[in-house]
Amino acid sequence: MALLLLAGHRRLQRLALTAVISLIIIFLLLPRLDRVPMSSRTWPSSPWVTYTRSSFDWANRPQKHPILQSSMTRLPEGTPRELPRIQHQFSKLELDEAHNKTQGERRDAVRDAARKSWQTYREFAWGRDELAPVQLTGVDSFSGWGATLFDALDVLWIMGLKKEFKQAVAVVGTVDWDKTTGDTCSLFETNIRYLGGLLAAYDLSHEEVLLRKAVELGDMLYAAFDTPNHMPANSFDFFKAKQGQLVADKRESSAAVGTLSMEFTRLSQITGNPKYFSVIDNIKLELEKTQNSTNLPGMWPTFVDLQDNFLTPDTSFTLGAMADSAYEYLSKMYSLLGGLDQTYEKMHLKAMTTAKNNLLFRPMLPDSYPAVQPDILFSGTILSNTRIIDLIPEVQHLGCFAGGMFALGGRLFKQEEHVKIGEQLARGCAWAYAAFPTGIMPEVSHIVPCEGGVDNLAPCEWNETRWRGGATRGAAAEPTKLPKPFSDVRSTGYLLRPEAIESIFILYRITGKKDLLDIAWRMFQAVKKATETKHAFSAIEDVRVVGDTVKLNSMESFWIAETLKYFYLTFSDPDLISLDDYVFNTEAHPFRIPKPTT
Ligand SMILES: *[C@@H]1O[C@H](CO)[C@@H](O)[C@H](O)[C@H]1NC(C)=O
Ligand SMILES: *[C@@H]1O[C@H](CO)[C@@H](O)[C@H](O)[C@H]1NC(C)=O
Ligand SMILES: *[C@@H]1O[C@H](CO)[C@@H](O)[C@H](O)[C@H]1NC(C)=O
Repeated sequence: MALLLLAGHRRLQRLALTAVISLIIIFLLLPRLDRVPMSSRTWPSSPWVTYTRSSFDWANRPQKHPILQSSMTRLPEGTPRELPRIQHQFSKLELDEAHNKTQGERRDAVRDAARKSWQTYREFAWGRDELAPVQLTGVDSFSGWGATLFDALDVLWIMGLKKEFKQAVAVVGTVDWDKTTGDTCSLFETNIRYLGGLLAAYDLSHEEVLLRKAVELGDMLYAAFDTPNHMPANSFDFFKAKQGQLVADKRESSAAVGTLSMEFTRLSQITGNPKYFSVIDNIKLELEKTQNSTNLPGMWPTFVDLQDNFLTPDTSFTLGAMADSAYEYLSKMYSLLGGLDQTYEKMHLKAMTTAKNNLLFRPMLPDSYPAVQPDILFSGTILSNTRIIDLIPEVQHLGCFAGGMFALGGRLFKQEEHVKIGEQLARGCAWAYAAFPTGIMPEVSHIVPCEGGVDNLAPCEWNETRWRGGATRGAAAEPTKLPKPFSDVRSTGYLLRPEAIESIFILYRITGKKDLLDIAWRMFQAVKKATETKHAFSAIEDVRVVGDTVKLNSMESFWIAETLKYFYLTFSDPDLISLDDYVFNTEAHPFRIPKPTT
């Protein structure tokens, strides 16, 4: 209509033509928006979103230890490679069989649990970091920006809870990173939960305000690298950061320093600004330099010295707490960079070989199995001063992600043996779930291992004396009350953690083995039964109890963001967030893998 009215006027006609051509050009350029520098970017937000800029502008804060644009490392150049296929090729028949009505019902049950948790969070703790599920109040444990809300953005989208997603995005648009409940935040936690959540939700929905807030936050966290040696300070003191007074720690967990790479890389990929990638690439170089010269060559100690070339006298090595995701991110970075940086492949394979030869063990299993013993492994902790290497058969729930890590890397780098190890580890944790009365494994326990002969992963005969001896050493008050072959339960609770289902999910997607779906369902039912409260779900005190569990009044943001997401995806069509299209950060936030343009 408007165009017709203009018809008589030449100048206006020309104007209209120019407008149309401009629109076409803009349209053609749209897919390349990723490359437009942030300053000249337009922000086509949805009408229901308001954007309020944070009150402190981190992007333009003068740096105390400037990193010059010219000395920044850029993202690897070139076309992303065609990566080996990760997921099992599900045939239509297989899918019909596996994803029949049963899986749909299971998926709905998981979604009901997520909706229930979310609605109660919305009613009683909206905008706060967490819901206290028993007292029904809000708790701020992660600076008070709304950790649960940011962490859940992408899972709401994935579960098709669009109304809830919009309500959450509306809050995101007005968050002020300068308004916090404490003087410091954890760089690690803020990165994986908030930045990871924003980036994944942006990758899925392309809602611009999510990227805007991700950039604001990325610019803030970038200040953690404004230190004399440009290594990050994990304890992010807001005041010191503004003054450029942060210093990297002499004793920092390897997880804290190794778990920034994916988020910072994705932010550089999306914005075209190399600064985020540049600082984490420095960390990779340090990790690479020191990998061969630690007390357990191939792995890094649990704590590293960020002021002195990562060297520490620390002698403990684990895939569990404080180290975990530093290993997890190696192969995932290879994928995220489209296979263009082989350093990550080398580091991953070397670390996994070292872990396999030293940390992994097979449990000594009782004879009570009818025909075949379950083929399972666990990952423990090594104490090493190079001469004496001691395996502590400590099993942490946090370490249960290792099955998924081995299997993913095995597919990516064509190491079939690692896929098998991944399956043995994933099934190990599922087996440990089933060993306890609640159907859930404890936070930390000890298991009597098979004695390491030449082959540390070979099966062995049950030896009652050894088990009782182990249980006594483990200082268990009543060893006979422990399920065999557990020798001790060091930390009895279950905190709604995701790692066990994470590995089962990945193994199902990779192997297509249908029994994993039933294992996952048994785990879900057990978790629901033991942790459900009237209005939500809660961490529990002791997985060993037979009757009612004691609730700990805690529901961390990873319950909805990770645990329920992995359960949901397990029972969904394998094309939903395919492992060939996405890599998950350590908080289960999927980032899109760049593809070769065909
Ligand atoms: C549907 O799945 C369940 C559980 O995996 C299985 O027991 C059942 O046989 C399946 N039904 C069909 C028709 O494949
Ligand atoms: C570490 O050792 C491996 C062989 O075990 C070798 O391929 C690699 O180049 C070494 N890396 C460094 C940084 O020395
Ligand atoms: C069982 O373990 C005990 C203690 O480690 C050992 O002395 C004994 O020889 C073992 N028994 C067998 C049959 O291997």
